[in-house]
Amino acid sequence: MTDRTAERREEDWSPLEPDVHERQIEALGAFVRANSVRTAVDLGSGDGRVGVPMAALGVRVLAIDNDDEALRRCAAAGLTTRNADLLDPALDCTLDGEPPDCAWCLGNTLMEIPDGADAAAMLRRLRAALRPGACLIIDNFSARYWPCVAQGLWVSGVSPDGTEQIVWADDDNVFALRRGDEVDVDHEEIRPGDRLIRLWTRNELRLLAMATGWEGPEEDESGELLILRRPEA
Ligand SMILES: C[S@@+](CC[C@H](N)C(=O)[O-])C[C@H]1O[C@@H](n2cnc3c(N)ncnc32)[C@H](O)[C@@H]1O
Repeated sequence: MTDRTAERREEDWSPLEPDVHERQIEALGAFVRANSVRTAVDLGSGDGRVGVPMAALGVRVLAIDNDDEALRRCAAAGLTTRNADLLDPALDCTLDGEPPDCAWCLGNTLMEIPDGADAAAMLRRLRAALRPGACLIIDNFSARYWPCVAQGLWVSGVSPDGTEQIVWADDDNVFALRRGDEVDVDHEEIRPGDRLIRLWTRNELRLLAMATGWEGPEEDESGELLILRRPEA
């Protein structure tokens, strides 16, 4: 039987290539400094890949995840932690009862929320949880990964070593990612239980923002991040 949890964890600790990780942390650090961010909520924090370096810059970080081991690692690194489901309508993002200065949801975590209605509900709640003018920062994954699709690198099929399988939906920007003994060459269509990933396009993100009361997204100066801003009014 597949130990999916263990496999996911291995991936989750390092969701980005090392060079992309470095650039992302540098870009977020620049944002944090430029905007004098003092408090932040790290949505789907993983082990603190992002939160820990931001805390080192003086930001007080609330790490939210639904994985105990992730939160244990964050707490060991000095972050405040909260075990919660990002899709919970009662999600509490406050730090000492105060809304944080900003939120980020990085490491492609938004791609793990493939249902547009779920993502919209989450963004609507986050908008209400942050102050006017506050930002929600996500990966610029549309710029990072759509070229791979356009160049024919991410197509349905099994990797040459047989350890990974991608199965695209027929009618949506969603694919199933199967790993290890989840790989099933006899089922080249999405089946119940598949882990679904949404490769949001830039325009889908724009529509998501519009539908949920956010401005943007705009690229940061480095192009590594997408910034959504809660309107002042
Ligand atoms: C791909 S990892 C990224 C981790 C981290 N943000 C980073 O950049 O390294 C996604 C993380 O989001 C968490 N996660 C996914 N869906 C979640 C949900 N609905 N509620 C809470 N955490 C969730 C997972 O447990 C995992 O730690």
